[in-house]
Amino acid sequence: KFEKIWLIFGVATLLVFLSVVGVSAFYLGNQPPSCLATINPEKVDTTAPFDQPGLKKVKGKEWDYELVFVASAFQYNPGEVEVPLGAKVKVLATTKDVVHGFSVAGTNINMMLEPGYISEFTTTFDKTGEFLILCNEYCGAGHHMMTSKIKVV
Ligand code: CUA
Repeated sequence: KFEKIWLIFGVATLLVFLSVVGVSAFYLGNQPPSCLATINPEKVDTTAPFDQPGLKKVKGKEWDYELVFVASAFQYNPGEVEVPLGAKVKVLATTKDVVHGFSVAGTNINMMLEPGYISEFTTTFDKTGEFLILCNEYCGAGHHMMTSKIKVV
């Protein structure tokens, strides 16, 4: 008798779990995580802020700087950038072609850049040093050469 109760309990739990997965996949399916805004991938070079990649000081916002990256096969623009120590930085990135990764070694920054979407991440660089940016999504023949660098000074 108890086995039967446990069996029903088990099946019910499984059904609840599956429906949670199903519902969240349905609602979140058309918006990838960490991608809030959309952009025309063919017009990245002429769409602000991606028309001027690099570090920019901003005023009246919760962050001090915006750091803009444009990814394309097989590079990031800028290929290297300096960030002042302790600055609160909002990283904004997108791709002009295929899906690229954007992970900063030694930090918890790890984004996926998808054509048509702007990925963003706000962080404070509180350690000096050089931080390598790597592509962690396979994007073609030059994937392993695709890097950039953040220098915290
Ligand atoms: Cu870009 Cu892999």
